[in-house]
Amino acid sequence: MKIPKIASKHLLTVSDLSREEILSLFSFAAKLKAMQKAGKPHELLKGKLLAMIFEKSSTRTRVSFEAGMFQLGGHAMFLSKDDIQLGRGETVADTARVLSRYVNAIMIRTFEHAKAEELARHADVPVINGLTDTYHPCQALADFFTIYEQRTSVEGVKLAYVGDGNNVAHSLMLCGAILGAHVAVATPDIYTPSKGVIERAKEFSRMHGGSVTIQRDPAEAVKDADFIYTDVWVSMGQEDDAEDRRIALRDYRINRSLVSLGAAGCKVMHCLPAHRGEEIDEDVMDSEMSIVFEQAENRLHIQKALLCALVLRTLSLRP
Ligand code: CP
Ligand code: NVA
Repeated sequence: MKIPKIASKHLLTVSDLSREEILSLFSFAAKLKAMQKAGKPHELLKGKLLAMIFEKSSTRTRVSFEAGMFQLGGHAMFLSKDDIQLGRGETVADTARVLSRYVNAIMIRTFEHAKAEELARHADVPVINGLTDTYHPCQALADFFTIYEQRTSVEGVKLAYVGDGNNVAHSLMLCGAILGAHVAVATPDIYTPSKGVIERAKEFSRMHGGSVTIQRDPAEAVKDADFIYTDVWVSMGQEDDAEDRRIALRDYRINRSLVSLGAAGCKVMHCLPAHRGEEIDEDVMDSEMSIVFEQAENRLHIQKALLCALVLRTLSLRP
């Protein structure tokens, strides 16, 4: 099987990848998905190891990476902050150097994005961002892979993101812009996406023919949208602001009347975990419009494609 070629050693943010690289990951992920469904072995990473550092909770990321490595013939190790010396003051750099002697790739879920960057700077093996406060690239890749499966092309598709301008919003904006989608983001003023990400995403959209718009009004954002996306109002690490956030975001719930403003056949997306009745109504989440579990499943397939591309690239460059 032809493995997608990727120039970057690591995946820290979606913009580490070009449009062509993302599309080649999508077609490779589709092949891996078909093979897995048909029960055909695809042990492309036989005997390879992935270390997974978790400083925040996870269901999907942990299980999809672990299942993915197993299906590829390798193995993944779950390293929670409470179990490794990183949590007791060993440096990120030393952790990177040590793990690089044992494993073929490292996934990290942490708070500051700079920590993932530091890990990557000192690792000899690929580092994959499994969510930081700023980005969630694996999620955005899975989400646009889901859109690609539904539409066969992402170019020109309109995705409206409604809610908190957080890590998931950032990665969706960048990924959508790189793929030529129209991304409309509606957030309250205080929870708008970061200025730097907005500028970067707008630059990409100018290059690739889509658009990125930021507005306050959810109704304006979702108008004629093909996909309406939301995420939790209180991300991991923001628990102290929970009440303020719930107040500021109360008009940003995805409900039936908001969804009715989307394009005919519009689909509803959420990276999960969802807080039903908060950012999304139960009857929308469980409706025929919802593709949230397809998104969750596709984490597995796109990450398998990514693991093959990154791990085999690094091995092929070894003397
Ligand atoms: N969407 C996502 O990353 O889920 P987990 O927090 O369960 O990994
Ligand atoms: N924005 C959420 C995503 C969880 C997958 C968080 O960071 O908690």
